[in-house]
Amino acid sequence: MRQLLGKYLLLPVLFFTHLSAHATEGMWLPQLLNRLNEKEMKGMGMKISAADIYSLNKGSLKDAIVSFGGFCTGEIISSQGLLLTNHHCGYDAIQKHSSLQDNYLDNGFWARNKQEELPNPGLTATFIVRIEDITQQALQGVTGSLNERERQSAIDKNLNTIRTNAKKESYQDLVIKPFFDGNQYFLFVTETYKDVRLVGAPPSSIGKFGADTDNWVWPRHTGDFSIFRIYAGKDNLPAEFSKDNVPLKPKHFLPISLDGIASNDFTMVFGFPGRTNEYLPSEAMKLTVEGQDPARVQMRDAALKVIDGFMRKDEQIKIQYAAKYASTANAWKKWIGEMQGVRQTGGIQRKLQQEARFRQLVQANPVYRATYGGLLDSLNNLYKEGAPATIARDYYTELLRSTELLGFANGLISLLQETRLKGEENYAQLRQQFLDKVKPQYQNYNNNVDREVAVALLDIYFKEVPSNKIGGEAYQIWMETNKDGRTTANKMYDQSALTSYDKLEAFLNKPFKSVSEEVWKDPATRLMIGLRNGYIDFINKPYDALQPEINRLQRQYMQAQMDVMKDKRFYPDANSTLRITYGKVNGYNPRDAVTYDISTTLDGVMEKYKPGDYEFDVPEKLRDLYAKKDYGQYGANGKMPVCFIASNHTTGGNSGSPALDAYGNLIGLNFDRTWEGTMSDINYDATICRNIMVDIRYVLFIVDKFAGAKHLIEELKLVHPKKGSVPLKKAS
Ligand code: ARG
Ligand code: ASP
Repeated sequence: MRQLLGKYLLLPVLFFTHLSAHATEGMWLPQLLNRLNEKEMKGMGMKISAADIYSLNKGSLKDAIVSFGGFCTGEIISSQGLLLTNHHCGYDAIQKHSSLQDNYLDNGFWARNKQEELPNPGLTATFIVRIEDITQQALQGVTGSLNERERQSAIDKNLNTIRTNAKKESYQDLVIKPFFDGNQYFLFVTETYKDVRLVGAPPSSIGKFGADTDNWVWPRHTGDFSIFRIYAGKDNLPAEFSKDNVPLKPKHFLPISLDGIASNDFTMVFGFPGRTNEYLPSEAMKLTVEGQDPARVQMRDAALKVIDGFMRKDEQIKIQYAAKYASTANAWKKWIGEMQGVRQTGGIQRKLQQEARFRQLVQANPVYRATYGGLLDSLNNLYKEGAPATIARDYYTELLRSTELLGFANGLISLLQETRLKGEENYAQLRQQFLDKVKPQYQNYNNNVDREVAVALLDIYFKEVPSNKIGGEAYQIWMETNKDGRTTANKMYDQSALTSYDKLEAFLNKPFKSVSEEVWKDPATRLMIGLRNGYIDFINKPYDALQPEINRLQRQYMQAQMDVMKDKRFYPDANSTLRITYGKVNGYNPRDAVTYDISTTLDGVMEKYKPGDYEFDVPEKLRDLYAKKDYGQYGANGKMPVCFIASNHTTGGNSGSPALDAYGNLIGLNFDRTWEGTMSDINYDATICRNIMVDIRYVLFIVDKFAGAKHLIEELKLVHPKKGSVPLKKAS
């Protein structure tokens, strides 16, 4: 008896260690919080209930969160539909309104009144009205005997029925998504507003301060925010843009806390994380960090080096390539961090341990043994088998992405194929569509830059991708040009008809018959045809052949993990649906003897200040405010807070997400993760994974003191929860 008791007494302790190690991992579905998370959240300091976060019957926090344009998150911060998101999320909109005279990227933009707010055709904001578990109906009649294609078509049929029968208003939409690799399905009723206007943005020297050098890095000093407003029809419902539209009256908007953060404060982040892969087997993780990441990084390394060299010497090229450079560098840097983080934390080792435990549990139970016996080995073997094609596929994708001439040639080949398919009489129309698409790309295209990128990338491609995956046609051309990137590139860039928009247009203006004949003589198109044929036959075919089986086994493995590991709480991988993640404001040790603090201040901005530098310049007005310490109600202890970190589990798509305090007040704006923790998409580790947020007080300081947009501050609801004056109040 004593012994037994002793055994049981141990359990809670083990359970606790388990929880504390994983307490901040997870992107949870808001409608399931009361079942899965509420208790833990309260234990960590949350002062509101799950129903205050997600409710169907009353305004709740979820009614203040939107998917911004489908790629970022935004939140509503006033009773007049004012929306806050990141500067890098609003970047395109800001850029489109900018000209040489009114360069809003450089100088910032502030509408002085609602009439000056700028419409952005195509930009949307989507609210989630309700979420329903439709797993049972979606998987009705779906049995293990169906193959993947049959399974999908059975599900599609079920989903159609669900769509037809679902209750929704005419102005609402239905979105259905698979979760847990297709083991569960959820339906989202959404409302998408289509009139979203630009209200304000700081200059890039604040909104993008530190740019690519500081990207993914802590300590950070970026004021990464921009402000929009949602407009609705007179009935407050979604409407196409019209100047008669009125500011949206939201069901809820976020009060803003001026009390700041302290170490160990509870925080949550509410938003639309894009994609994670937390339940892969070890071979898949190995493939990612030892196969795919190195390949992609190698290609981008080479391309970025070339582009950077040109951008530093030539102002025109800098403007043309800035956005491309930033987006290429963003993933490149993340992948480097991911490889390093997985290595540093023994991520693969940890997977192997989890798999050993999984195997043990399966072996110990006859039912599991019968259903899941060989599953893990088969799945691991499939990933291993598919590795060469997967890596070659990455090389191919990167080659086409960075070598724009090949990208144009690829588009041209598709145009010819489509014309053959649809009939020559459609050529004129299809040609015009193609030309319209590439015209803006040519505006930001420079032959000298692209040629040097091609030299570097062709050398890598033909060296790294095995010749039997390249194929005879392309390899033939490679041999004709002495297996040399420079010779191959020179021939293409000296002779191709695709090196400028005008030449391309003239070439395509010939009759379809001549175009399809001459295409073979054009060195760029000829190489591209060879590369493409080789890709289709030797990379994509074997890759595609394995996918259905990988998907099937991955789905079974997901289910098996949930069945077998009863002590573990599972959250679904991110899939651009609304999630909540929670954690604590906390520093960390990136490496031996180094400790990172939780927050930065304007002092750090001034430490980084490099006059005239395109990443680290500081506007004069901000320097003045700093010199006078003129921080108004936003400063704390004589300093101006700028950014802070916490252990919320976030990913791409969470940019612009609100960071909330224990009461659901806005305390910050999520925009990035730390270098050591970018691996969190495949290997979350609470000891070093941190999300980075702008302190909301810095945002307000910039709006109020720097931009003088006091009318915006007056729209907000500012609260002091720590001083005990204002408990959470609903906005409406
Ligand atoms: N790393 C952040 C994210 O993945 C910020 C990217 C924008 N900033 C930049 N310097 N490229 O989106
Ligand atoms: N910067 C990312 C975004 O734009 C966020 C992240 O990956 O942490 O969504």
